[in-house]
Amino acid sequence: MKKWITALFAITAVVSLVALTPSRVSTKSADPREDSLAADRAKYTKMVKEAIAGKEKLPAEEVFKNIKIFKGQPAEAVLGIMENRWSKTLGVSCNHCHNVKDWASEEKHDHQIAREMVAMVGKINDDLIATMPSYATKDRKPRIGCSTCHRGESHPGRPNVARPGAAGPPRN
Ligand code: HEC
Ligand code: HEC
Repeated sequence: MKKWITALFAITAVVSLVALTPSRVSTKSADPREDSLAADRAKYTKMVKEAIAGKEKLPAEEVFKNIKIFKGQPAEAVLGIMENRWSKTLGVSCNHCHNVKDWASEEKHDHQIAREMVAMVGKINDDLIATMPSYATKDRKPRIGCSTCHRGESHPGRPNVARPGAAGPPRN
């Protein structure tokens, strides 16, 4: 009788493991939010690339209308930052910051915030971290970037509404 119960437990354990494993794996690998955003970003980037064809290597301020941060950088490099760094790091697509019918427009609040965040990151790196007497040395120049805080969230530090149950930061 005892053996029979032990066997039953073992079978139950194996069956639940088999039942649980594939569903966990599949929800993670097929996150529809990630996929649709990646396709959306690629679509917009392609649109802009086609519009600036032949001018990709020119300085961004000669190709685009409203460049303040990326002066001197090739236009294609700016698009790379837009698609692969800023959008991904914030977990958004281009329309979060842009009126996609008028890329130069500053009408979206997040467009302005992004420029302010760039200034903040510069201050943290140049005025705060670089002057830490023990941490920043001649050979070591630690720096932070957007992903230090954002890590795929537009509002780091708030409980994530897209994934209910995800915890916010410690409150201390
Ligand atoms: C977090 C906000 C943000 C996201 C997301 C974002 N952008 Fe931008 N984008 C900006 C800001 C701010 C500038 C201005 C940069 C500067 O001042 O040098 C800009 C500039 C541009 C410009 C130049 C416009 C002009 O005429 O001056 C283009 C084109 C552009 N972005 C395309 C994209 C594309 C394509 C995506 C998506 C793949 C994207 N952006 C995602 C904030 C964003
Ligand atoms: C030191 C941490 C930190 C760094 C570094 C940082 N951010 Fe942020 N950012 C935040 C926090 C926190 C919020 C959200 C505040 C809130 O909940 O309203 C935020 C909000 C934003 C928003 C507004 C999001 C929205 O949907 O309203 C934008 C846009 C943004 N950041 C862009 C950037 C960019 C681009 C960089 C890199 C140049 C950057 N941030 C670097 C902490 C940071």
